[in-house]
Formats: sequence, C-alpha cells, structure tokens
Amino acid sequence: MSNTLFRTKKVEQSILDTEEPEHALKKTLSALDLTVFGVGVIIGTGIFVLTGKVAKENAGPGVSLAFVAAGVACALAALCYAEFASTVPVAGSAYTFAYASLGEMPAWIIGWDLVLEFALGTAVVAVGWSGYVRSLMDNAGWHMPESLSGREGATGFGFDILASALVLVLTAILVIGVKLSARITTLVVAIKVTVVLIVIIAGAFFIEGDNYKPFIPKAQAVEAGSGIKTPLIQLMFGWAPTNFGVMGIFTAASVVFFAFIGFDVVATAAEETKNPQRDMPRGILGSLIICTTLYVLVSIVVTGMQKYTELSVDAPLADAFKATGHPWYAGVISFGAAVGLTTVCMILLLGQTRVFFAMSRDGLLPRFFSRVHPRFRTPHRPTILLGVIIAILAGFTSLSELAELVNIGTLFAFIVVAVGVVILRRTRPDLPRAFRTPLVPWVPILSVLATLWLMLNLPAETWLRFAIWMVIGIVVYFLYGRSHSRLGRHEETTLGEIGNPPGGTAG
Ligand code: ALA
Repeated sequence: MSNTLFRTKKVEQSILDTEEPEHALKKTLSALDLTVFGVGVIIGTGIFVLTGKVAKENAGPGVSLAFVAAGVACALAALCYAEFASTVPVAGSAYTFAYASLGEMPAWIIGWDLVLEFALGTAVVAVGWSGYVRSLMDNAGWHMPESLSGREGATGFGFDILASALVLVLTAILVIGVKLSARITTLVVAIKVTVVLIVIIAGAFFIEGDNYKPFIPKAQAVEAGSGIKTPLIQLMFGWAPTNFGVMGIFTAASVVFFAFIGFDVVATAAEETKNPQRDMPRGILGSLIICTTLYVLVSIVVTGMQKYTELSVDAPLADAFKATGHPWYAGVISFGAAVGLTTVCMILLLGQTRVFFAMSRDGLLPRFFSRVHPRFRTPHRPTILLGVIIAILAGFTSLSELAELVNIGTLFAFIVVAVGVVILRRTRPDLPRAFRTPLVPWVPILSVLATLWLMLNLPAETWLRFAIWMVIGIVVYFLYGRSHSRLGRHEETTLGEIGNPPGGTAG
C-alpha cells in the first residue's frame, strides 16, 4: 500500500496534462505581470493591520526585527519555490511539486493544507478590507447596521455583508479571465504601493527618537491560565509564558509572517506564464525583495511616529498620522488600504481555484471541476464553487485567530517544498532547471529550520486546529482521492496490459 500512497507523477506528465485542450489555461503572463501579481497579493492585511497589534502586544518597536526574521525565512523558502516553479511550471503550486517529488498522499496533504492558506486567507483579507471600507464610510457619515458589520465585537447575529459581497464580485472577475483581472491588479497595486511610500516618506518627518526607547521592551510575564494561547515553543520547554523581550520578536515574526504570504502564489500561475523557466524566479524573488524592504521601512517609521503602547490595532498606519495631527494623510492611507486589499483577496482566491483545478485534473477531486470554460478558458466551476463557500465564510469569520491558522498552513507547505527540492534533485537530476536553488541541501535545510521555528512560535491552539484539519483531509483522501486518482488508474491499466506485478512508482 505504501507504494501507491507514494506513487509520484512524472514531471513530463504534469506538463503534458496542461496541453490537453479541454484542460489547458491560457499562457499570457510575463515576469513583470508576475511581480505585479506578487506585490499585489503580498502587501495587505499583514502590514496594514497586524503591524500595530504585534508592536503593541509582542515586540514594541522591535517589530521591524520581526519583519526581518520573517523575511529571512521567506527568502530561504523563495529560493526553493523558485526552483520548483521553474522546473514544474504547472498550475497547483506546492501541490504539483509534491506530486512530482514526494508522492500522491503528501501531495494530497499539501493540496488540502493549501486550502488553509488560500481559502481562509481570502476570507481573512476580505474581512480586513471591509473594516477599512466601513471606516471610510463612517468618515462620510454612512454607518452600516451592526448586524451586517461582521463577527468582530458583534453581540448576537453578525454577518459581514461587505466582505461577502467583495468575494462574490471577485469570483465573477476571475471567471471572465486572468487578463482582465491582471489589468485591474496592476492599477490597484500602483495605488497600494504609492500609499505605502507615502507612509514611509511623509511619516519619516514625524518620527520622534524617544518613541524607540526601549527598542526591544523587557520580557513581561503573561497572566497564568492563558495556556493554549501560548506559543507552542514556550509550552514545550516549560518556559514561563512572556510577551516582549527577544522571544516576543519571534512571536511577532510568526504572526507578521502573514504579511509575506503571497510570493508562493506567484508559483501557482506558472502554467499561465509565457516563459516560466526564466520569468518565474524573477517574479517570485523580485516581489519578495520589494515587499520586505517596504515592510521594514514602514514598521520603523510607524513605531517612530507613535509610542508602541499607543498604536491602534485596527488601522495603525492611518491612525499614527491622526495621532500626529495629520488626518488628511490618514484618509488617503485608509482609501489606499481599502483599494489594495481587493487585489490580495483576488489573487488568494485565484490561487485556491488553481490548486483545486490541478487536484481535480489529477482525479483526486471530481474531474468535473477541471473542465475549463469554452469561451473564457478559465476553470469556472471550481472558481464559482469556492467563491460562494468563501463568501459565506468571510461573512461569519473573525479575523485574528484565522490569520494564525493561515500562517501555520502556509509554513507547512514551505517545509514540503524545501524537502521536495532535495528529493527531486536526487530522483530526477536530469530535469532541466532554469533556476537552481543555491547550496543544496544547505539552503533547503536552513529553510526547513527557519520555517519550523516560526511554526513553533505560533499558539498551541493553532497547532490543535491545524491537526484537526489535516486529519479530516487524510480521511477524505482515503474515502475518495486514492481510488479516483488518475495516476492510480493509469498505473492499473498499464500494469494490467503488460502483466507486471503491482508496485513501484509511475515516476
Ligand atoms: N500577505 C497578505 C496580506 O498581508 C496575505 O494580506
């Protein structure tokens, strides 16, 4: 049985599958499109919302170091992602890669795990977006009824109608086609980056040196009884749970990691890229470098403008300008954030539909979902199904805890990709690799260690939820995917024809 669980799909077969006309996506994207795509999804709720929360609760002005720590972990992972994306340029990201390197069950686990990143991520960002829109509406004197303003702080029924509506509109755009959405993305990304630059440049004039003292606040004991909410690493080693101090920077890093999610999504568009071998690594690394630089600068500026204890947790960038007596800037920043979060949401949703599409094309999910639209040539069926589910989820979701669940899911995928790079180098040294991860196996090993470190700094509660989700996934695989796998069926037929005993891999 272990032979079938670890059967691998040939890289050549993955690429061939994309050429079946009924199941093929259009190849229209360039390196620039990919970078814009990357920046479009990377800069979002993380920098616009979470910066304030972690500075206030975990790291103080040292939050900029948390961004550096998370950025380093992501850069290591990006070096691995870039190799696989240029080797296996097929929709499905880490899922496809795992199928080629580790085998079918690990691939399934990754596909299932990526739902946490993409689907829950879409919902989380939609909720963040609706918060900014409501704050703009409040400025204009229009107030949403509380029951339609979401779960956060709601007494009784609470449905976030704006978040839900956003997801449905984006679903419609994605069904019509990538080209249209890429155009919209470019415009929105330009607005978002401009707003971030305004924060950095204008904010630099309002920095007060005293706000940086202390830069890393002393560790403070957390009240007893917070057990399951404590970072797993502190529980594992029996450390007294604390905030701030050096460990606070790592706790903050594991949360602001959310701000980096998205560079891996660029890999999911490999199949729609004109020259993936060259453009994929450029797109992934380029967007990551741009964003890391902006994040570190933004967090240094914001914690210099306002004492960390006073930062707002809902709209810290805009509110820091209000606090220094510049509400006009605050309005512009809120507007840019509201506009910018739409692309984050859209690209996460795109990533989810593409992974679902790839899994369905492989038969691990019903094949019905991998027929592309005859005119738009987009995977309209999974897009519509997932769009509706996520719209409902976004309506009933509270932002904070789900963001941590998104992080753990994404970090887990990073580990699989890093391990996969090493394995595929051994099992398929012959494959052309337009981009090669440097210093294999050392960079992948460092990537695994850095990623694991961030995961261990997430709360025990998040680990528990993650474990439950993964157990459900394994059950679904054994009930459906394993017996419907196209690769499995192909193997059975071939083996039947040539009369070989079962066993071995197709790779
Ligand atoms: N990186 C994205 C954000 O911060 C997911 O919203």
